[in-house]
Amino acid sequence: MPMKYYIVTYGCQMNVHESEKIAAICEKMGYTLADKREDADLIVFNTCAIREGAEERVFGNVGALKKMKKQKPSHIIAVCGCSTQKESTAQYIYRTFPFVDIVIGTFNIPNFEHYINAVKSGRQLEIFKEGDIDETVPYKRTSGENAWVNIMQGCNNFCTYCIVPYVRGREKSRQEENILNEIRAVVAEGKYKKITLLGQNVNSYGKDLTPAVPFSKLLKDICAIEGDFKIWFMTSHPKDLTDDVIEVIANEDKILKDIHLPAQSGNNRILNLMNRRYTREKYLSIIDKIREKMPNARITSDFIVGFPTETEEEFQDTMSLVDKVKFDSIFAFMYSPREGTVASKMDGQVPEEVKNRRVNELLALEKKIQQQEGKR
Ligand code: SAH
Ligand code: SF4
Ligand code: F3S
Repeated sequence: MPMKYYIVTYGCQMNVHESEKIAAICEKMGYTLADKREDADLIVFNTCAIREGAEERVFGNVGALKKMKKQKPSHIIAVCGCSTQKESTAQYIYRTFPFVDIVIGTFNIPNFEHYINAVKSGRQLEIFKEGDIDETVPYKRTSGENAWVNIMQGCNNFCTYCIVPYVRGREKSRQEENILNEIRAVVAEGKYKKITLLGQNVNSYGKDLTPAVPFSKLLKDICAIEGDFKIWFMTSHPKDLTDDVIEVIANEDKILKDIHLPAQSGNNRILNLMNRRYTREKYLSIIDKIREKMPNARITSDFIVGFPTETEEEFQDTMSLVDKVKFDSIFAFMYSPREGTVASKMDGQVPEEVKNRRVNELLALEKKIQQQEGKR
């Protein structure tokens, strides 16, 4: 009987895609996919650190495997990803859950096979501080007609609330030719209708390459690949969504007119404290530009409520921005302090119940807008 693997993925599309890499490595080693985690010989948790809730779910679910491991000690349990990229969390998991065999970070994933083999001689705990983009390990695509294609990794923006720059490192772009070749191969397979380009901040793609490659050029070059497919990408940062990119989205039939543009807040003092480097006015002017070129574009956004020191009035600026733009959909999050980030040390942390009320208020407004727009 072949050994079986099962992967539990938390967090964003980037993690979903990385789990496709882990799956490919498992299958190369002879494992086959189990239908459920109880049937697996190897269980992998690919974790997310973006908010406290995400991490707590991981701890709970890892803890729940204790009994399973007792019944079947040959089980291998691995925890990897953004949570364990943080040394303190990696240590915590290693100490708290002695039945976890492998604890590694985001940069160790390409070496996954090594850790599985090494487990025979003992538990593995290793966190690389940094890593280059891996071009050697393929992906086992698992998202139906959608193929994820990573175009860059890391983030240089250091929004003051965000853990991502600490767990994903600095921005590194893939060579354009490698991306184009991957997409050519994906298109040639004939079963993918949509290609989603992934990066924490896709608009700064190529700035670190020599010579630099503008994101708009990458998009045009991808569109020039023959075939019946659509392109989508995320995430765009408002400060970098330049006119040339808007132009290409508008002009190219292959690019979906679907733009995820996280605003985070509608108040300038808070945006500044968040280190977002744009204003409410700038954000609204980008929305105007998009709608001018593409009146039917679908526009979605992310918001954080209860950022440290956010007053009721400042929160109402977020409400009014949402009311004004009438997004097609939004994600609204209660601010969650992340260890090591600038905002987590700020005075004026907002009480949970206030955050809770604000998030509900924002979501209620969004729902009302959806209903009104739907009736039009
Ligand atoms: N790179 C993307 C988003 C990454 S995280 C960008 O720049 O927009 C996805 C979303 O999680 C963010 O847009 C933000 O709204 C939310 N988020 C990030 N850190 C958070 C925190 N500490 N607390 C609450 N929400 C957070
Ligand atoms: Fe986090 Fe900001 Fe980077 Fe997005 S742009 S990943 S919110 S630091
Ligand atoms: Fe979470 Fe890491 Fe993505 S922290 S949101 S899985 S980049």
